[in-house]
Amino acid sequence: MTTLDYRDRALHLERVALAAVAELFGTPCYVYSRAAIEAAYRAYDSAFGAAAHRVCYAVKANSNLAVLNVLARLGAGFDVVSGGELARVLRAGGKANQVVFSGVGKSTEELCQALAAGIACFNVESAAELERLNQVATELGLRAPVALRVNPDVDAGTHPYISTGLKENKFGIPADDALALYRCAASLPGLRVCGVACHIGAQMTDLAPLREAAGRIAALRLALLAENIAIDHVDLGGGLGIAYRDEVVPSAADYAAAISEPFAGSRVEISIEPGRSIVGPAGVLLTRVEYLKPGAGRNFAIIDAAMNDLLRPALYDAHHAVFPLRQAGGQTKVWELVGPVCESGDFLAHARSLALAEGDVLALRDAGAYGFAMSSNYNTRPRPPEVMVDGDKAYLIRARETLDDLWRGEEMLAN
Ligand code: LLP
Repeated sequence: MTTLDYRDRALHLERVALAAVAELFGTPCYVYSRAAIEAAYRAYDSAFGAAAHRVCYAVKANSNLAVLNVLARLGAGFDVVSGGELARVLRAGGKANQVVFSGVGKSTEELCQALAAGIACFNVESAAELERLNQVATELGLRAPVALRVNPDVDAGTHPYISTGLKENKFGIPADDALALYRCAASLPGLRVCGVACHIGAQMTDLAPLREAAGRIAALRLALLAENIAIDHVDLGGGLGIAYRDEVVPSAADYAAAISEPFAGSRVEISIEPGRSIVGPAGVLLTRVEYLKPGAGRNFAIIDAAMNDLLRPALYDAHHAVFPLRQAGGQTKVWELVGPVCESGDFLAHARSLALAEGDVLALRDAGAYGFAMSSNYNTRPRPPEVMVDGDKAYLIRARETLDDLWRGEEMLAN
């Protein structure tokens, strides 16, 4: 669904002119489209048809309460990786029994918190975690619902920093150890085995590795059944990648068909944990050109957003398309878009052909996922506000940080 469009040469998100948002809330500023978030969630939800399924939005991609609330109202489940994310989901109206808890390093405190809340499933990543969860649940007189996150040793073919399904990655339980660990889990009094989970990587646009991983999980399910260990769901990890450039992304329907196929005829519920594809294309980062610094080697446009606001280009060399808020025409030049942070790695876009003037506002596309969520206060820069548009209205869903926010909790020595 395209909610980002030019009308009368002015860039709009839904029916809101982004120039008006920049004017009202200042720059840099994140802006999300409610309609785009809802459409992306619904595309996954309907892709499975009548088959039992659960779409658990991966909170890490964007954990703003308004975003979570919009999804909770649609009946979404949630994938969390910390006690903080669980608390956010509950605060935003999500239901604990629709929450799965992923992550390699859940603390005892987080295990207790999630057990007490009554989450749907713990995706356990090691024998040691399984043991600790059993102990914590037994002490609380509860049985923890568990899936083991199995590492299917499939190459996702994605960026090494976001590839997770290979033997050498820190994630999951090696496929060869899975059966023995399931036997152990099934014998422990504080646990109730209910699923198998896997996640092989993010930003995937090829269905073949996902199909292969699903096939391996289906084989494991049968091996478990043969030992009388029945599971009610399989969790097949994050969602599809998105078209940051011109990547061809399969449809939600093709994705659902590919991962469901190995389970045809079984009644097992399929769950997925998409984050990026639900919120990524729904969001832009607005930034203003502060200074132009054309040069012999390169032309630098110094913008008011920086790596602390959007880390993906600096960290992964990620590409975000750039659009001027006003299509003015004029002479284009090739620009490096760089921020004010004192690091050479502080760039938001390389070699973009744009007609720029000081004061212009630009939109960096596909910034709704892992944008604000990965932002920081580096260089004592207050983080940008977040705005959600809904039809022709724009709502502030997170205020720009103030300097007081930044030093809250800091103390100077008395003498
Ligand atoms: N489930 C698990 C267990 C995950 O590790 C992840 C992402 C997801 C679900 C959600 O995947 P998605 O649908 O969003 O691709 N900061 C990086 C992405 C890191 C992804 C980590 N895990 C980026 O900006 O590209």
